[in-house]
Amino acid sequence: MSWSGARNKELMERARAVLPNGMYGHESVMMMPEDFPQFFQKAQGTRLWDVDGNEYIDYMCAYGPNLMGYGRPEVQSAIGAQLAMGDTMTGPGAGIVELAETFVSMVKHADWALFCKNGGDATSIAMVTARAYKGRKKILVARGAYHGSAPWNTPSMSGIVPDDRAHIIYFDYNDVDSVTKAAKFAGDDVAAIFATPFKHDTFTDQADVNAEYARGVRALCDEIDALLIIDDVRAGFRLARGCSWDTVGVEPDIACFGKVIGNGQPISAVLGSDKARKAIESIFVTGSFWFSAVPMAAALATLKLVRDTDYLEQMVKIGTMFRTGLDAQAADFGFALRQTGPVQMPLVMFHDDPDFRFGYEWCRQAMLHGVYLSPYHNMFMNAAMTEADVALTLEATGKAFDYLKANRSTIEPQAKLGVLKRLMAS
Ligand SMILES: Cc1ncc(COP(=O)(O)O)c(C=O)c1O
Repeated sequence: MSWSGARNKELMERARAVLPNGMYGHESVMMMPEDFPQFFQKAQGTRLWDVDGNEYIDYMCAYGPNLMGYGRPEVQSAIGAQLAMGDTMTGPGAGIVELAETFVSMVKHADWALFCKNGGDATSIAMVTARAYKGRKKILVARGAYHGSAPWNTPSMSGIVPDDRAHIIYFDYNDVDSVTKAAKFAGDDVAAIFATPFKHDTFTDQADVNAEYARGVRALCDEIDALLIIDDVRAGFRLARGCSWDTVGVEPDIACFGKVIGNGQPISAVLGSDKARKAIESIFVTGSFWFSAVPMAAALATLKLVRDTDYLEQMVKIGTMFRTGLDAQAADFGFALRQTGPVQMPLVMFHDDPDFRFGYEWCRQAMLHGVYLSPYHNMFMNAAMTEADVALTLEATGKAFDYLKANRSTIEPQAKLGVLKRLMAS
């Protein structure tokens, strides 16, 4: 079937009248290449179908949550069983206790768990907990890191007043001197240092965490008695079966998880050590849907898969095939790629492509041939992906490289990136 976008286009036109910007947030295709579908009808396993019925191998995985494959049977049956009993009730089901026990048994530093809905809930709760810990104000955050869309961390400054950021101090990721300087600047008022597992900012090459830096941040937090918070919302369970800094032997005081933990069901978690127990018990945070039983049942089923299957090794295997295949293909067609970050969460950019024209057109061509990639945000592997999926993917990307090669001199720069710069500056 040849690609068509008529129904999506019609919906986008209608949406412009009734949704902010026609669609808002990170799943808006405003910054994606031309013709990328905004609306979808279904997802299964590794596949996604848009409202026009076009099928894609999906390397965005709902921007992370699809860890085990969309509609993974073990998770679906847990959802079905709990749904038949009850979901949002006057109190949580027994599953909340089992889920907390499971997290505590799987994540080294964790002595307790608090469940909420989104990653941004978890990071904000972690921040408040850290301030409650010693009654201090300053929060140290890596420049350019995304921790959610609350006033203290949203990337757009529209509607945000300086007071919202008055106690946030920025430093450079992977730079011990920079974080130490930021702590000195804060005097004796540092509540917490935030760290993402690796540098996964958009529109820029990713960077693995430097183990010396991770150990340095841990030592600094110990020295000044501030809490180390790992924001594992995006990378959680894609690098390790516990907290992502297990990979460098560093334990935080608090970790924030979200996205993957219910394999697509809405649930996030703050996981903390005994050191932070008194602080978390002193604050008041809650939400109407935080105690719903179905996402907890889904999370329990997902954690069992994390613990008992080779899902992680499978993602590494597939991610490595994807990366190696693309490098070989790029060389065949006379291009060079910068592939950064762990293979399970790859970002693919073209060398000598400062205005992203090749990256955007390459993703657009791959999309038209049934593979959904991103030119500016890290992508995600999931455990349902197979060697056959990678082979099909490389067929599509081969056509995309072929198109680029044939049209190299006429591909236009991306006007959309100007819009982004204006939005960020506002
Ligand atoms: C590292 C990180 N922290 C926090 C968040 C916020 O999570 P959510 O969008 O679920 O609120 C995200 C979302 O992408 C994230 O990547």
